[in-house]
Amino acid sequence: MGNDRNLPSHVGIIMDGNGRWATNRGLDRTIGHREGASAVRRAVRASREKGIRALTLYAFSEQNWGRPGSEVHALMGLLQEFLVGERDEILGNGIRLRAIGNTNRLPTIVRALLDGLMASSKGNSGMTLTLALSYGGQEEIAEACRVLASRVVAKEINVEDISTGALRSAMPSLEVGDPDLIVRTGGDHRISNFLLFGLAYAELHFTEVLWPDFGEADLHDAITAYQQRERRFGTL
Ligand code: FPP
Repeated sequence: MGNDRNLPSHVGIIMDGNGRWATNRGLDRTIGHREGASAVRRAVRASREKGIRALTLYAFSEQNWGRPGSEVHALMGLLQEFLVGERDEILGNGIRLRAIGNTNRLPTIVRALLDGLMASSKGNSGMTLTLALSYGGQEEIAEACRVLASRVVAKEINVEDISTGALRSAMPSLEVGDPDLIVRTGGDHRISNFLLFGLAYAELHFTEVLWPDFGEADLHDAITAYQQRERRFGTL
């Protein structure tokens, strides 16, 4: 199982490659997403068992609304299934569920399930699982600016109080701390508008593995690679 020392506390995953996984097999892209949802279940379990404190999964970006309606519909259906099917797993294992992003845009049924499970799990002290849904890192930064600006207008804070720390406090993605490790599957070397502010000093791990194939061994490899790096945070 490797080295438990120097475990990343907060891991973020960009789950890419569902479409290609399916297309490579001559299957519909939505089948790839279905397999991707199974990989989500495995990743949540493996992260919890390893002792990761916070896992943030990029499940649906703000930009993903631009995909064909049928694909968006399929993804929302899988999310709904996940929230129903994983309820016992989440509550039974002390996981705290959160969501970041513009969740107002989600279908009512998905939002209701999400709100219910977040409320039921909010006192849990095990791993925090954050689903990034209708999420964009630039959008989150803009929203944090709006929050701080309105506090200036309300004379609660001064312009000089707008520091990196103040911005961080206004970003829900960073409530669990800055991400220590970002994993991206699917072979591309991009961040795609994920956790932009918080990832300033994150270690980045890119793998060719397509998300539906991602398993415990791949998570283990990512963590081992992280543990072998020396983080200096801009110092010597
Ligand atoms: C990227 O694959 C993946 C997504 C846009 C969505 C991720 C969704 C899941 C893993 C399943 C549902 C999630 C939950 C939490 C149940 P892609 O379609 O961009 O793949 P491609 O690059 O091969 O086309």
